[in-house]
Order: sequence, then structure tokens, then C-alpha cells
Amino acid sequence: MGVTEIRSRKETAGRPRKITILGSTGSIGVSTLDLLEFASKRGEAEIEIEALTANRNVEALAEQARKFKPKFVAVADETLGDDLRAALSGLDIETGAGAAAIEEAAERDADWVMAAIVGAAGLRPTLKAAERGADVALANKECLVCAGDVVTAAIEKAGGALLPVDSEHNAIFQVFDFERPNRISRLILTASGGPFRTWKKEEMASASPAQAVAHPNWSMGAKISVDSATMMNKGLELIEAAHIFPVLHEQIEILVHPQSVIHSMVEYVDGSVLAQLGTPDMRTPIASTLAWPDRTPSPSAKLNFAEVAKLTFEAPDLERFPALRLAREAIEAGGIMPATLNAANEIAVAAFLDGGVKFLDIAAITEQVLAKVSRQNDQASLTTLEEAMAADSQARRLAEECVAAKAAA
Ligand SMILES: NC(=O)c1ccc[n+]([C@@H]2O[C@H](COP(=O)([O-])OP(=O)(O)OC[C@H]3O[C@@H](n4cnc5c(N)ncnc54)[C@H](OP(=O)(O)O)[C@@H]3O)[C@@H](O)[C@H]2O)c1
Repeated sequence: MGVTEIRSRKETAGRPRKITILGSTGSIGVSTLDLLEFASKRGEAEIEIEALTANRNVEALAEQARKFKPKFVAVADETLGDDLRAALSGLDIETGAGAAAIEEAAERDADWVMAAIVGAAGLRPTLKAAERGADVALANKECLVCAGDVVTAAIEKAGGALLPVDSEHNAIFQVFDFERPNRISRLILTASGGPFRTWKKEEMASASPAQAVAHPNWSMGAKISVDSATMMNKGLELIEAAHIFPVLHEQIEILVHPQSVIHSMVEYVDGSVLAQLGTPDMRTPIASTLAWPDRTPSPSAKLNFAEVAKLTFEAPDLERFPALRLAREAIEAGGIMPATLNAANEIAVAAFLDGGVKFLDIAAITEQVLAKVSRQNDQASLTTLEEAMAADSQARRLAEECVAAKAAA
């Protein structure tokens, strides 16, 4: 596993650089557009927006379209196609609706594609961008958890670059010696610990969705915020890291670092540890993927070390945060288990946000689904999109059953 080669940025031969944002109305999408606006106001970059996409938020997507003038916009919800067309009537912007339209957005000729759809829904479009050789800035970690080997093989084959957006993976990417991966002894993924880092398990049992999404350091979408509260986010990131970097998953450690200043670290065989630091603002890692291998200014606040004053670290508590154990077990088991973990978690998180299950049920449901599926896991790896989608559908169905059973109890 792991993308072993760093490739150079796509040449644009004097023409403006074309950019597509999948999931432009979300937290990462909005930060990306903010950064593009910042770059264009400074006259730093000649950029054309090829496509922007959303799930259902027609209003925000239409507003972005009026402002950034993409050639194509699409919503995943097919029933909203007419609304989107009406909102942009009179403008020279093509529109589309449905899953195929999101894939069309990914297939259009952009040099750099931000993959910022949340969940496994991002897998097919991200793969489309990878398959045509675009440089893929990858925020959508779930697509690597669900089908990491499929996505990285597509990137390798088509010759684009995989540029990690997740702040931890972006940090590692910046300090990882891709020419000497065998000189790396450990990757240390830092975790803020989320809003319940110091909570007792009994308190977590009655945590509300509003409490779970109130992340202490980062402002993010609802699903990743809940994943941070259960620490499943770090479990997904463990699997993501094992796909991006040429190391064994056993070499990847998780370390709680509540200040979120050190975004992750790489330890070399001689004992040297290289880290990337910054304020908790996603515009820094996004800027790094946008300009890579160059650098571009970002409006994010710069670190004030005297103000930060103290950096602290602690080992993660696997008893209060069982999601970390589940993710480790899933990657050890391989095959369909990571895709199963991801899909079951997505269903359980959605049920929690809807008020259907309790906070601690999220990991419990995921564990139940993993236990049910483990008997069928007879593959060492998952190598096709069809296998990934089948594992994903099965896990969603089983998780829905668990949610219904909890609701009925
Ligand atoms: N936010 C962060 O700071 C952060 C940091 C690291 C990694 N990430 C990762 O980046 C990804 C996006 O996170 P986010 O926080 O930006 O999420 P978010 O705020 O919930 O935004 C998700 C985006 O995906 C769209 N979307 C949702 N479901 C879709 C579907 N079924 N088909 C097509 N589009 C769909 C949403 O459209 P609507 O607006 O219409 O719903 C929105 O544009 C996630 O994988 C997350 O783990 C996020």
C-alpha cells in the first residue's frame, strides 16, 4: 500500500489552471473557494473554475456559481435539477443533477480536483477524477477507507498526484521522505481528542448531537465532527494514512495532542522526528495542496508560539473511545472490513444526528456490524470498485437493522 512516487504538478502550458471542487458547499469546499478568491485578489494565480457540486444545497451552490462563474454545476439530488437550472437561468453555466452529473463534474477537464464530498458517496466521482489523471486534493478520507487500493491504483495508473488535504496527512506528506521510505520508523498521527476528551463514559452516554459537533479546535461539517467526538475520525485516518504512505499500518501511532498545533509527525530510524505545525485552519493544508510543490500565501492566522505556550500529549483511551480499536482491527483484518467499518459508522452517525440512537451506540452498532461481517471476510485485499460497493451496501443494510433494533428497544 502507499503512493510511492511524488509526481510533478500538471503543466498548464501558459493557460489558466482549471479547478473543480466536488462538495463545494461544505466546510472544505467553502474554505477552498475562499482560498481561490484570496489568490485571485492578490493576482497570484490565473484560475478557471470548471465545476462545482453539492448534494442538496441549491441556494449555496447557485450563489457560488454566480460569484465564481464555473462552466458546470451539479447537485446529487436528482429532484433538485429544475431548481438549480431556474436559479441560474440567463447565465452561461451548464447544470446537472443526479449521481451521474456529479461524476460528469469529476470527469470534466480540470487539472486539480478537490475531493470534498463527505462519506463513501465521494468514492465514484473521486475515482473518475483519478482515472483521467487529474491531481486529486483528497479531503474525502472515507473513499480511501472504503476502497483505498482501488483509488491509489487508479492514481498510479493515470499519472496524477494524490495530495492529502486532511491536516494530519498533509503534515506527514510535507515531511515524508518518499525517496527513502525504509528510513522511516513511525508515523505519529496527532488527534485533538475531540469535545469529549475529558468526559467520563457515563457522561458520554447522554451526549447530545449539539455537544458532539462542538469541536474545541476545528470548525467542520457535522459528520466529521461526530467522528472526532467518537475518535472514529482518527481510526479512519489511520486507514487513510496506510493507503497514502508506503509504511505498514503497525508503524502508524495515534497520539492525543489537545492543542492541534502539531498536525502530525514522521520519525526516522536515527531518532529524528519531523513535524509540521500550524494554526487549526484547513486553509493551510488546502493551500499546500493547491500550490504543491510550490507554496502560496494563505489567509489563515499564523502561529504565535508565545500565545500557544504549551504543547501537551497523552495516549488515547481505547476504553472510552472503542472506535480506535475497531479501526485498527478492521485494517488488520483487511479485505472488506475497512469498507464495512466506514459504512456502518456512516449510518450510525446519521442516526445519532437524527436523534435515533445514543452517542455510545455509534461505536456499538459499528462493532456489531463488523462482527456479523467478519465471517465472510475471506479476502486479504479489496481490489475492485464493485467489491467495495457490495461491502458498503451490505454494511449499510446491517447497520440500518441495528439502528431499528435500538430504536425499538
Ligand atoms: N471539515 C474539515 O475541516 C475536514 C478536515 C479534514 C477532512 N475532511 C473531510 O472532508 C470531507 C468533507 O468534509 P466537510 O466537513 O467539508 O463536510 P460537509 O461540510 O458536510 O460538506 C460535504 C459536502 O459534500 C456534499 N455532499 C454530501 N453528501 C453528498 C452526496 N451524497 N453526493 C454528493 N455530494 C454530497 C455536500 O453538499 P450539501 O451542502 O448540499 O449537503 C457538501 O458540499 C469529509 O470526508 C471529511 O472527513 C474535512
